[in-house]
Amino acid sequence: MGFSISPFMLLRFLALLSLYNLMFASSSFVQPLCHDDESFALLQFKESFIIDHSASSETAYPKVSSWKLESDDCCSWDGVGCDKDTGHVISLDLSSSCLYGSINSSSSLFHLVNLQRLILSDNDFNNSRIPVGIRQLSNLTYLDLSYSAFAGQIPAEILQLSKLVYLDLEVNSLKLQNPGLQSLVEKFPNMEELYLTQVDISSTVPNNMANLTSLTSLILRKCGLHGEFPAGIFQLPNLEFLSVRYNADLTGYVPEFNRSSPLKSLMLADTSFYGELPDSIGDLKLLNEIDVSDCNFSGPVPSSLGNLTELIYLDLSSNNFNRCTLDWIGKQTKLNELGLANLKLNSSIPFFIRNLTQLVDLRLSNNGLHGSIPNWMWNLSKKSLQNLDLSNNFLTGFHQLPVILPWTNLLGLDLRNNKLQGSLPIPSPSIITYSVSNNTLTGEIPKMICNLSSLDALDLSYNNLSGMLPDCLGNLSFSLSFLNLKRNNFNGKIPQICKKGSRLQMIDFSQNQLQGQIPRSLVNCTMLETLILGNNQINDSFPYWLGVLPELGVLILRHNQLQGAIGKPKSNFVFPNLHIVDFSYNSITGKLPLEYFRIWKAMQIIGKNGPMYMQANMSFDLLGYMWNSNYAYSMTFTNRGIEIAYERIPYIFIAMDLSSNKFEGEIPELIGNLKGIQVLNLSNNLLTGSIPSSLEKLTALEVLDLSQNKLSGEIPPQLTQLTFLAFFNISNNHLIGPIPHGNQFDTFQDKSFGGNPGLCGSPLTIKCGNFKGSLLPPLTFEEIDQDSKLLYEFSWKVVVIGYGCGFIIGVLIGQIVNARKYNWFIYLHFAIQHQIGR
Ligand SMILES: *[C@@H]1O[C@H](CO)[C@@H](O)[C@H](O)[C@H]1NC(C)=O
Ligand SMILES: *[C@@H]1O[C@H](CO)[C@@H](O)[C@H](O)[C@H]1NC(C)=O
Ligand SMILES: *[C@@H]1O[C@H](CO)[C@@H](O)[C@H](O)[C@H]1NC(C)=O
Ligand SMILES: *[C@@H]1O[C@H](CO)[C@@H](O)[C@H](O)[C@H]1NC(C)=O
Ligand SMILES: *[C@@H]1O[C@H](CO)[C@@H](O)[C@H](O)[C@H]1NC(C)=O
Ligand SMILES: *[C@@H]1O[C@H](CO)[C@@H](O)[C@H](O)[C@H]1NC(C)=O
Ligand SMILES: *[C@@H]1O[C@H](CO)[C@@H](O)[C@H](O)[C@H]1NC(C)=O
Ligand SMILES: *[C@@H]1O[C@H](CO)[C@@H](O)[C@H](O)[C@H]1NC(C)=O
Ligand SMILES: *[C@@H]1O[C@H](CO)[C@@H](O)[C@H](O)[C@H]1NC(C)=O
Ligand SMILES: *[C@@H]1O[C@H](CO)[C@@H](O)[C@H](O)[C@H]1NC(C)=O
Ligand SMILES: *[C@@H]1O[C@H](CO)[C@@H](O)[C@H](O)[C@H]1NC(C)=O
Ligand SMILES: *[C@@H]1O[C@H](CO)[C@@H](O)[C@H](O)[C@H]1NC(C)=O
Repeated sequence: MGFSISPFMLLRFLALLSLYNLMFASSSFVQPLCHDDESFALLQFKESFIIDHSASSETAYPKVSSWKLESDDCCSWDGVGCDKDTGHVISLDLSSSCLYGSINSSSSLFHLVNLQRLILSDNDFNNSRIPVGIRQLSNLTYLDLSYSAFAGQIPAEILQLSKLVYLDLEVNSLKLQNPGLQSLVEKFPNMEELYLTQVDISSTVPNNMANLTSLTSLILRKCGLHGEFPAGIFQLPNLEFLSVRYNADLTGYVPEFNRSSPLKSLMLADTSFYGELPDSIGDLKLLNEIDVSDCNFSGPVPSSLGNLTELIYLDLSSNNFNRCTLDWIGKQTKLNELGLANLKLNSSIPFFIRNLTQLVDLRLSNNGLHGSIPNWMWNLSKKSLQNLDLSNNFLTGFHQLPVILPWTNLLGLDLRNNKLQGSLPIPSPSIITYSVSNNTLTGEIPKMICNLSSLDALDLSYNNLSGMLPDCLGNLSFSLSFLNLKRNNFNGKIPQICKKGSRLQMIDFSQNQLQGQIPRSLVNCTMLETLILGNNQINDSFPYWLGVLPELGVLILRHNQLQGAIGKPKSNFVFPNLHIVDFSYNSITGKLPLEYFRIWKAMQIIGKNGPMYMQANMSFDLLGYMWNSNYAYSMTFTNRGIEIAYERIPYIFIAMDLSSNKFEGEIPELIGNLKGIQVLNLSNNLLTGSIPSSLEKLTALEVLDLSQNKLSGEIPPQLTQLTFLAFFNISNNHLIGPIPHGNQFDTFQDKSFGGNPGLCGSPLTIKCGNFKGSLLPPLTFEEIDQDSKLLYEFSWKVVVIGYGCGFIIGVLIGQIVNARKYNWFIYLHFAIQHQIGR
């Protein structure tokens, strides 16, 4: 390439020159420009990724987008740092840079051999392994690959980075097993900060870890650690931050502390640590976070903790501490987090809490707290409080309930399972999750509730609230996903609760006295998974129009006044997800909806994949952590003849209850389509015809109730193939013939079969005859006496139509010689009846 200077370039060069002179004059030296090969390597690195904003957290931006070939000094690029003497790139910080793509050892990143700091956190490396090429960066002291979708075993090559003092590999899908934690500790005796949250270590904590005297931070949250934790680690002279939270199998005790220990944060929650907390914990002047919740500590809570002046986080929940005074907590006025759940306090709301003006999260659930919620609570941490949990106590109510609860920034309020009386407390509009379920609140729902525009979960179930539901309830549907008003005394019409754009997933208005129609606006609730309106006085016809809701899985309308026939679906794509249907105790007429049996796809699958239970998940940021709460869906459903309150609905439960209506006609063979069904209840209707042998296709069936109908014919012996069948009821029909035997059928009691005068054989006392059928030769046509021959010929066709040949032969073989004329007579009699019935 030739070299020529255009006048323009000359000008530019002169301008640069003068700039240089200027810099030279003002500072004592010139920073060298970055090296071409490093600049090239950086650009190559940039090119190997896609910029994707979903690869990083919300506030991220792509630092590399300012990197340009034309801007020659890579040392000035965003995220790049150079040595001021040599101009080599020694630091690269591409955290939260929206990088998406795989990385391997050929990456140009590993040409940057002078790197001392490398930060790639909060990107998406597409489940890449950490490349073994990392060993080339032998001058690295600081390595942060957290939250970046790396996966697999951490390579042994990382142990060659002998200068490393800072290592952060948190929240990837990484394993540290071969090499494991032991090797890491051996190779890095000077390690200062080690962050391994959610790295799968699955080992014990090596004893030599207590030799890492430079360690200031040791974070081993949720690493699958087990065995005894080396007590010496607590005594490391420089340790400030220690977390081994969420290692349920990790045991250990907390030894005496050295007065000069700089420990600031002691997080042991959800482990099996045991023994007493030492008094010397009160000597740790800098300690400001203590989380020992859900451990196995016992003995007294040391009152020396009252000497700590910096405490902002204290969680003692769920331990075996014996009765002890906690009054010293009143001196901890800087507390943000106070967890005293499940400590058997057995008192009124502790007075010492009154002093705490900066609480963000207060949890006192499950403590046998009694009495009323005192007035001074209204002044407690008014601005700061975000989460208040007083659930599972015996609190009786509020002194002077204010119109709106005073905590202006409250996000979560849990008052469930108390004895609260009086009217419904209304939290501030900031609220996201609110439950007062299972109290004795009375009065109406104030209209003010419609102002709670951030509400995600509202649970007012199991109270004595009454009156009409406010019309404005629909205003909540933009934020609300869980709405439970079960078992109150609400009456009147159900308001139009779903606006367009509704987020509602679960609506339960059951066990009230609601009247009128099912609100048509429900079609706007396109995310609805569960609709429970049972035990009301709803007067409507079958809500076929709900079929458009793509997620609707549970539809419970039991004990209402539904009328009319179900009719035919308007298209083949309705109710695609429905797997629990309960229309029992209504007045539905007409035939069973065989066209729906054809298209209810979710009932035709055995063992569908998904979460364990149906629930709505809520979360909000609380003190820098995600606070998650799950609101499980519940229902009342008749199973095995008993009404059962399901506190949770298993995701894989498939059931249909159409009992106690006025369905007539036959049970269609098509019912065999609903292969996944576990509970089928068609009892107490006007069904006629025979039991379809296609029921044998319902291989998951556990409960079959066909009792109290007008079914006739014999019990199809194929039903003995239903090996999961645990409850079987065909009592009070017009069935005849022998009861089949084998498998589950040998376990059913006589009450399964009673009220069918034509049935015989065990477990009923009516014998089918004196002989054991199976030992006898099959009945031949010649043996049927002349009198009935005519009858037989007449009805043969009918029988074939009804059952097919296989069934006939089965029945014939099963007959008993002496009784066979009798049986045969009933059989034919039935067959004729059957024909007339068509
Ligand atoms: C991510 O990984 C998958 C599977 O290894 C691969 O097919 C895909 O091409 C990768 N995507 C990128 C952007 O590297
Ligand atoms: C490494 O990744 C690059 C793309 O970034 C690819 O071209 C190369 O084939 C990969 N090398 C190996 C050994 O997988
Ligand atoms: C590592 O740093 C030392 C000085 O701290 C330097 O002499 C050496 O060249 C560096 N090594 C590499 C590969 O950059
Ligand atoms: C810790 O270091 C001491 C002396 O430095 C040594 O004697 C001891 O064996 C080490 N302990 C472990 C477990 O490595
Ligand atoms: C407490 O720590 C200091 C400084 O690290 C040390 O000199 C002293 O020996 C330790 N005391 C005990 C009892 O361990
Ligand atoms: C907790 O401690 C009690 C005795 O205080 C013991 O019986 C129990 O087994 C311990 N539980 C666990 C999980 O270690
Ligand atoms: C609190 O500190 C003082 C002085 O340091 C000490 O005398 C007292 O015993 C400590 N209180 C407790 C309960 O440890
Ligand atoms: C609190 O009450 C429970 C149950 O009544 C009892 O088992 C427990 O011992 C009591 N605790 C205290 C500290 O009184
Ligand atoms: C509340 O704090 C004051 C001083 O901050 C203290 O004197 C008082 O004892 C504390 N009250 C309780 C109940 O701890
Ligand atoms: C709440 O605080 C206000 C002003 O600080 C005070 O006037 C009022 O008496 C307090 N109420 C209670 C019940 O402590
Ligand atoms: C209501 O709370 C009581 C205890 O106060 C508990 O026994 C009962 O199971 C709860 N009922 C429901 C439906 O949660
Ligand atoms: C759906 O919601 C809109 C308001 O967002 C409402 O006007 C409409 O009537 C609703 N649809 C039905 C069927 O009620």
